[in-house]
Amino acid sequence: YAYSIAATLLAYLLGSLSFAVIVSKVFGLNDPRSYGSKNPGATNVLRSGNKAAAVATLLLDGLKGWLPVVMVKWFGGDYGLGDGTVAAVGLAAFIGHLYPVFFQFKGGKGVATAAGVLLGISWVLGVATLATFGIVVFFSRYVSLASMAAAVFAPFFYLLGDRAAWNVDKSIVLALVAISALLVYRHRENINKLLKGTESKLGASKKAGK
Ligand code: G3P
Repeated sequence: YAYSIAATLLAYLLGSLSFAVIVSKVFGLNDPRSYGSKNPGATNVLRSGNKAAAVATLLLDGLKGWLPVVMVKWFGGDYGLGDGTVAAVGLAAFIGHLYPVFFQFKGGKGVATAAGVLLGISWVLGVATLATFGIVVFFSRYVSLASMAAAVFAPFFYLLGDRAAWNVDKSIVLALVAISALLVYRHRENINKLLKGTESKLGASKKAGK
C-alpha cells in the first residue's frame, strides 16, 4: 500500500495549489478571494476582466486533476497500482483544491479539477460531462448551475459509459459520487443565490460591475 498512499498524498498536495490565487498573483491582479463571489476559481478570476488569467486558471486547475489520474493509469501498473489508486488520487486532488494545505484549507468549488479528473478516468466520461455543462451554461448562463448539473450526471455517465455497469470499478464509482456530492455542497451559497435570483450570470460582470 505504500505506493498507493504516496501517490494519494502527492495528488492532494498538487490539488492544494490554488491556481486562481497563483495565476492572479503572476498576472498582477487582485486576489480572487477579495472580490466577486470570493471564490478562488476560474469563474471568479473571469470577473476580474482578465480572460487570459481565467483560462490559465481553468487549464491549470484542470491539469492538476487530470495529471495524477493518468500518471497512475499509465505507470501505476509497474508499482502494483490499480483502479483503487486511480480513484484515490482523483478524489485526493479534488479534495486538495477544496481544502488546500497551502492556503489555510480555504479552497474553491472544484469544478475545473473535477473536469480534469473525469477526463483522466475516461475521455468519453469527460466529454459527456463537459457537454452537459455546455448545454446548461448556454441556456442558463449560470456557471454554478451548469457545474452542479454536470457533476450530478457524471457518475451515471460512468455507469452507462464505455464499460458495462456490472463490470465497472466500484472504487471509481464511489470517488465520482463523493466528488459530485462535495461539489454540490461547496456550491450551497450559489444554490441560495439561484433560489433568490441574485446569482450572477456569465458575462454580466461588465454591466453590473460584479
Ligand atoms: O467556478 C465555480 C463555479 O461553479 C461558481 O463560481 O465564483 O460563481 O461562485 P462562483
